[in-house]
Amino acid sequence: MNQNHLSLLLLFLLLPQVYSQVCQRFCGDIPLRYPFGGGPGCGDPRFTKHVTCNQRQLTFITHTGSYPVTNIDYDKKVLYVSDPTMSSCFCTQPSKGFSLDWDAPFSFDDSSVFALLDCSLDSSPIYKGAVNGNITNVPQCDNAGTTLCSSLYSCQPISQLNVPINTCCVYAPVDLGPAFEMDLQKAQCKAYTAIYSFNDQEGNPEAWKYGVALKYKFNVKNDYPIYCSNCERSNGACAFTGIYNTFVCNCPSGVNTSTDCYFQSAWNSGLILSPWVNGSLILYSIMLLLFWISW
Ligand SMILES: *[C@@H]1O[C@H](CO)[C@@H](O)[C@H](O)[C@H]1NC(C)=O
Ligand SMILES: *[C@@H]1O[C@H](CO)[C@@H](O)[C@H](O)[C@H]1NC(C)=O
Repeated sequence: MNQNHLSLLLLFLLLPQVYSQVCQRFCGDIPLRYPFGGGPGCGDPRFTKHVTCNQRQLTFITHTGSYPVTNIDYDKKVLYVSDPTMSSCFCTQPSKGFSLDWDAPFSFDDSSVFALLDCSLDSSPIYKGAVNGNITNVPQCDNAGTTLCSSLYSCQPISQLNVPINTCCVYAPVDLGPAFEMDLQKAQCKAYTAIYSFNDQEGNPEAWKYGVALKYKFNVKNDYPIYCSNCERSNGACAFTGIYNTFVCNCPSGVNTSTDCYFQSAWNSGLILSPWVNGSLILYSIMLLLFWISW
């Protein structure tokens, strides 16, 4: 058996995997890396149901709704989401609020600040917060929020709400523990805004960055799994498959390996594997035939 025979034989051994799914490297403009995979079988399975890629839009899902993911900071391990029902300096609109699932690997980032707007005069807002693991009502606004409220009231849409500034209630959910529910109906507020950066311009709400910053956690120390970084460095996607959620490195051609895609890309750059990438059964049969003829 010469070298050609050997390579063809190896190719046939790899074949069943050629037809498997390729994990997405991007969802729209957002790069997908561990722990995010965009869909089932890709990325860390604990994150799959919370963050999925839906028609080129990465979406964060909780029991209160689906929210577009606007950015992921993989170094800080922070996910930025926007809420289409949220108000800002540029517009106000009614909202039911925003909540995290208790069992999801997300918590509010320290940078997140919420302001409740358009609240009823005769109720002090009440939020459900998880304090020491128990869900309780947390009836306070942050006193440090008054300057923030007056900045917000310099925005025309907010001042036009026509409710006194002392009904504006600011708080940082990080004080309330990891999980948290903002029920605007219960708080008797009609709108809210969330800010994750003042852009070094505390007095200029037009320059602020509106949205919710969420920290995510995939293990105790949030150490990036070394097998995932090796796989991603070789242009693979870190995936988990089968009932035991076994790690596989999903390579661009669809081949899964247990390490990285360097071996596999060597095959890809050769003449042989390229047609296989879009491979059809017809091609397979022709090559099988060639193999036996040249044997
Ligand atoms: C390869 O990995 C992907 C992603 O987990 C999976 O969907 C596919 O079934 C795997 N293919 C094989 C042949 O194991
Ligand atoms: C949580 O609530 C339970 C039952 O109400 C109580 O027994 C427990 O001590 C509370 N835990 C804390 C940390 O407050």
